[in-house]
Amino acid sequence: MRDDDGREIVLQACGLSAGYGDLPAIRRIDVHIARGEIVALFGANGAGKTTTLMSLVGELPRSAGQAHWLGRPTQARLHQLARQGLAFVPEYRSVLASMSVRDNLLLGRGGVEAAVEIFPELGPLLGRRAGLLSGGEQQMLTLARALAARPVALLVDELSLGLAPIVVERLFTVLRQAVRSHDIAVLLVEQEARRALDVADRWYLLRNGELVGCGDANGGIDQLEREYLAGLSSAD
Ligand SMILES: Nc1ncnc2c1ncn2[C@@H]1O[C@H](COP(=O)(O)OP(=O)(O)OP(=O)(O)O)[C@@H](O)[C@H]1O
Ligand SMILES: [Mg+2]
Repeated sequence: MRDDDGREIVLQACGLSAGYGDLPAIRRIDVHIARGEIVALFGANGAGKTTTLMSLVGELPRSAGQAHWLGRPTQARLHQLARQGLAFVPEYRSVLASMSVRDNLLLGRGGVEAAVEIFPELGPLLGRRAGLLSGGEQQMLTLARALAARPVALLVDELSLGLAPIVVERLFTVLRQAVRSHDIAVLLVEQEARRALDVADRWYLLRNGELVGCGDANGGIDQLEREYLAGLSSAD
């Protein structure tokens, strides 16, 4: 499967619905990511961003619709998809706090050297317990571990949450470089649209579990705000 620019679509949600118990938290979601692009998934708290990711990677049962991975419908769980090149960075910092930075990196599929090449900041920190790192350093560790494995696709839930702008810029810069160099497909969940639009190529907007807009990042924040406001008024 290819997108309009001829890029290979690696992960796709087709009419995906999922939820908790009988309550559907997301309904009929259609999104896709292709090699070499960063796609942002926006939405307010509770809009269904995390639910969308979890159901895309097979960690939450789907009540309707399908996920396609590398062109085929899949029922695979995350640990199976991970072996096929899908990297997932969950919502809360996923470092193992009591283990050293080095041991955290050894748990990844890409090794220590490749990770330090991606974020040289980690070099002097290798012997430190990961729980002692700053929030920004922890996210560098998480992102380095994910990117060192040279994934086909990377899904990141709220990379920038609670971090200073300069740290977020550094994380996004490295992400952009990795995507360019290795043709990775990225789905980036973010609440802070302004910053994410600088790094993203396209965006989707969720509201109350439904997809209410999508666009090119070069349309800027104005287009996103128009779509968002249109979504708000049509639902009221
Ligand atoms: N484990 C759960 N059990 C029941 N309901 C849940 C559970 N997790 C999420 N929900 C509900 O599903 C809806 C979507 O939540 P989700 O976590 O996907 O939103 P989100 O967009 O990621 O929000 P945030 O920005 O706060 O992370 C919300 O109404 C939430 O209350
Ligand atoms: Mg979330």
